[in-house]
Amino acid sequence: MSLQAIKYSNGQLHILDQLKLPFVEEYIPIRTAEEGWHAIKEMQVRGAPAIAIVAALSLASELSKLLTDDAITTNAVEVQNFIVGKLHYLITSRPTAVNLSDACRKLEISVSGEANRHNATGQSVALVFIRTAESMLAQDLEDNKSIGNHGAEWIIKHALWSGESQATVLTHCNTGSLATSGYGTALGVIRSLAESDTLRHVFCTETRPYNQGSRLTAFELVHDHIPATLITDSMAAALLAKEDSKISAIVVGADRVAANGDTANKIGTYSLAVLAKYHQVKFLVAAPRTTIDLETKSGKDIIIEERSGSEVTMVRGPCANKGDIKETNVETIRIAADGINVWNPAFDVTPATLIDGIITEVGVVEKSDDGTFHLDSIFESSS
Ligand code: MRU
Repeated sequence: MSLQAIKYSNGQLHILDQLKLPFVEEYIPIRTAEEGWHAIKEMQVRGAPAIAIVAALSLASELSKLLTDDAITTNAVEVQNFIVGKLHYLITSRPTAVNLSDACRKLEISVSGEANRHNATGQSVALVFIRTAESMLAQDLEDNKSIGNHGAEWIIKHALWSGESQATVLTHCNTGSLATSGYGTALGVIRSLAESDTLRHVFCTETRPYNQGSRLTAFELVHDHIPATLITDSMAAALLAKEDSKISAIVVGADRVAANGDTANKIGTYSLAVLAKYHQVKFLVAAPRTTIDLETKSGKDIIIEERSGSEVTMVRGPCANKGDIKETNVETIRIAADGINVWNPAFDVTPATLIDGIITEVGVVEKSDDGTFHLDSIFESSS
């Protein structure tokens, strides 16, 4: 049984509460856009594609209930305005991952297309929204499988150590089934290598401060019986320097890829890219095209979310929200001196110069002869 962060059927949305993993596996209902907003903000669901889909489906669930209760006005424009207001609110939950605003923009366009139709009603506008949101869930899963296949093929072709027929991969943060609608992006590449028996081993970082690596990626790797070893973030250099580790590639996900290829991803990604360059190991970013933001020219224009210092000063706790650790049944332990200042950016930006390839559902984009990425070209091809 593959892991699922998001379960949706007939207007009912449930998400796996990731604040409780790996200790407790509990699905919680998300019935409204407000509940979706809080689940995203408080990191009950996290990962760029997953938060976009939960945002869309939370509003789809709310609209489904209103339709069932016959509580939707027949006025198409009123329903359009209601939906657009909710979408703008959902976008405010987290700023860095572009998938969220991209999904909301596409939903807004489809709803406005329906509302402008001659015979449109409030019900038909709501239905168009629901169908579009549902199709995003299915599309993300399909895209991830393609990302996995393209990335695995590229690694086998370009990144194996001489004499090796299997790859050893280092990954960071969580990019798997729990961060997407299923299969995963960077972890999808790893799954695809494992399925074709071309994976020797995976190393995953703990991913401080929030420990997505030890809490979520390690959980997924153990669940899927993929040969894996957990390291702390600060062990990556020693691992790459170790002669027998033979790391073929570092593969990470992304929260926003700018038009020039600069990539915002979980804090610590940039350090890994610098290490990869020094050790001449391929550094790859795996992300669907919904993560590529051609309107953001370079990494300098990406807003980096700063989170509460309690994520750094406490361990085993749930996400910090508005400065306070929220209580759950998971114990939290203070590990830093009381009174110390903390800087906690959730993401960093890896310059395109350090990236060897961007793995998308339509193929792996490499730099052109001029040494830069031309990402606009992949929006001309179909998936
Ligand atoms: O803060 P998070 O846990 O939402 O951050 C997740 C990451 O940075 C992932 O690596 C990224 O979103 C890629 S998800 C496929």
